[in-house]
Amino acid sequence: MQSQYIAQNKDRFLSELFEILRIPSISADKAFLGDLRKTAEYVRDKMIAAGAENVVLEETAGNPIVYGDKIFDPSLPTVLVYGHYDVQPSVPDELWTTPAFEPTVRDGKIYARGACDDKGQMYMHLKAFETMMQTNSLACNVKFMIEGEEEVGSTNLGIYVVTNKEKLKADVILISDTGMIANDIPSIDVGLRGLSYVEVEVTGPNRDLHSGVYGGAVANPINILCTMIASMHDENRHITIPGFYDDVNVISEADRKALNSAPFILENYTKDLEIEDVMGEKGYTTLERTGIRPTFEVNGIWGGYIGEGAKTVLPSKAYAKISMRLIPNQKSAAITKLFSDYFISIAPKGVKVKVTPHHGGEAAITPTDSIAFKAASKAIEATYGKAPIPTFGGGSIPIVALFEKELGVKTVLMGFGLDSDAIHSPNEHYGLFNYYKGIETIPYFYKYFAEMMK
Ligand code: BES
Ligand code: MN
Ligand code: MN
Repeated sequence: MQSQYIAQNKDRFLSELFEILRIPSISADKAFLGDLRKTAEYVRDKMIAAGAENVVLEETAGNPIVYGDKIFDPSLPTVLVYGHYDVQPSVPDELWTTPAFEPTVRDGKIYARGACDDKGQMYMHLKAFETMMQTNSLACNVKFMIEGEEEVGSTNLGIYVVTNKEKLKADVILISDTGMIANDIPSIDVGLRGLSYVEVEVTGPNRDLHSGVYGGAVANPINILCTMIASMHDENRHITIPGFYDDVNVISEADRKALNSAPFILENYTKDLEIEDVMGEKGYTTLERTGIRPTFEVNGIWGGYIGEGAKTVLPSKAYAKISMRLIPNQKSAAITKLFSDYFISIAPKGVKVKVTPHHGGEAAITPTDSIAFKAASKAIEATYGKAPIPTFGGGSIPIVALFEKELGVKTVLMGFGLDSDAIHSPNEHYGLFNYYKGIETIPYFYKYFAEMMK
């Protein structure tokens, strides 16, 4: 029944996704505020059309949250679906084969910003819900909470959650905003890393200087910034910030073994990225480096002359944006302070350093022995023909730790993307296979969860 309904409505499910993908809902840039609202309204309208009740745009100090629910039998368990309709900036636009906000199907994949992260995955939930409503098979109560600020730290959602605990009461939080190992190797993420994000500004002389007249005699803020950043890792690629690892729990050999038993072929990994070899913290495998170890990465660095041709100038200022991925027990605010104090302390005389913290978030581990996890496993097994492997995706969804803290509800990360989907990159895409497989799998989760909760 459900698969028939999905098959009959396949084309519309795709054209509706295309419509939402056309709206440039970039939350990092104020110029797109109107588009974020338009996207929220689109989600709201489609939520109503699918059969949800009490659908509203919850106003916040930022972009609206779309809430809706269908509570038809209080004796049944309630699933709280979370997703986000905002996306990352599309720059550099010239690297996209087709424009970021003109969705196009090529080789069985939908190319567009947000195709996978997270519009495509979020929208699967609305279409799965519509399918269950239309086939009279909705097995759980459902609440939807779709926000528009995930890519900028979910600050306003945090406030909303804290002030709406009763309204958001649920037995499980279901999120499709992560990935799988491969389409023939299903997996479920069981951990998210925390994040500390900072911007640094290094100021040298009070103005740009002639690099011949002053060069060699005055601190060049770009040179200094590069030296300071380079010193943040030692020869084993450990992070040198004093105290950085103090709260890192030792992982047991058994857990390490389990983590490393996930299929991973280094040769395919390096080939895909066109790199000769991987590089990371000594003593850890690639899966460990991305899954359960903290990191320090420069996300952007700029300053001085970057126009055409050559300009001989010793710049007054240099900047960098830096993200640190954190693991459970490390605290984002504490790490930001450790970094900030240390970075300022290592600056030589001749430059001034300013550190501006951006958003942060705590890591989260999702249980694998819960009913919800088992229901998700069974759902994936039903549609993929194989039980999913627990994995660590490496990314962050800071609101997950907050859900647990404030609502006391655990999350299942039933993601359908792939690492190769190029999320946050040019040519982001999402397989048609994955989109439809998600819509097909989600109703099984509801069914098994309801059955197992009895
Ligand atoms: N969907 C991602 C998180 C993700 C991706 C988790 C892949 C696991 C695997 C999410 O939209 C995201 O990009 N989060 C940001 C953090 C946020 C605070 C900006 C991230 O991880 O950089
Ligand atoms: Mn996402
Ligand atoms: Mn993202």
